[in-house]
Amino acid sequence: MASFLTRLQHLFRPAPEAPPPSPWQAGNIGPVRPKLSEPRLDDVERGIADRFHDLYYSKLDGGMGLHTIVLSWMGYEMFKCPLDLWTYQELMVTHRPDVIIETGTYKGGSALYLASICDMLDHGEIITIDIDTTHDAIRPRHPRITYLAGSSTDAGILDQVSACVGGRRNVMVILDSDHRRDHVADELRAYRGYVPVGGLLIVEDTNINGHPTYPGFGPGPWEAVDDFLAEDAAFVADRSCERFILTMNPRGYLRRVA
Ligand SMILES: C[S@@+](CC[C@H](N)C(=O)[O-])C[C@H]1O[C@@H](n2cnc3c(N)ncnc32)[C@H](O)[C@@H]1O
Repeated sequence: MASFLTRLQHLFRPAPEAPPPSPWQAGNIGPVRPKLSEPRLDDVERGIADRFHDLYYSKLDGGMGLHTIVLSWMGYEMFKCPLDLWTYQELMVTHRPDVIIETGTYKGGSALYLASICDMLDHGEIITIDIDTTHDAIRPRHPRITYLAGSSTDAGILDQVSACVGGRRNVMVILDSDHRRDHVADELRAYRGYVPVGGLLIVEDTNINGHPTYPGFGPGPWEAVDDFLAEDAAFVADRSCERFILTMNPRGYLRRVA
């Protein structure tokens, strides 16, 4: 009798309620943004932030030369400042780029980070370029990441990038390969055209060569940006992207305004 009743109860049990939509399905992802503005620092505060750059460059184990502390995303190494990664996340949620072009893949950790944000946005792909194939075997495989092997300014690579981007217009560019001024300047010329008005071209590691850290590097990204901004009025440095106070890319978040 008891089992008969149980069976009856089972038959007439109301259908389970549908689970609540995930935050992503509910459209809760972006573009709600906090108030963005560059923090105004006095000289003492600026000095503290500048000293932190030195610390971040000097505390890597193993004395690898020009390198910051190594971090990882899901087990894949990269050279970034976590505060910049947060800025990237905010920019991606706001801009929802169709494609991100990254020059300088290294071990693929930064490409994987960007691809993971794209997964959450359910939108976007990464094209990442590196001249060095040493790390090929250990780079993450991900359906949103395309690896290109060669120099970022090589004509053949530029053709491949163009073919991969196709007709997509909402492109974000991150330059993080050879940091010498001439190479960065060539990259700026080669990739500026991908960035739509309102979009971003990010030059990594403008802080070296004494801006404010690693004074012995020689002319690098900062100097290339200086020349670029002087000759190309379509771009300005968007310093609101530096609101977390510490960034490896001071004056490196370039926004296209025309
Ligand atoms: C700073 S690491 C890239 C770091 C990576 N984006 C990350 O966040 O972990 C610089 C990379 O640029 C690559 N590279 C150097 N010269 C290059 C060039 N001409 N074209 C493309 N990649 C280059 C190096 O092989 C190296 O892997």
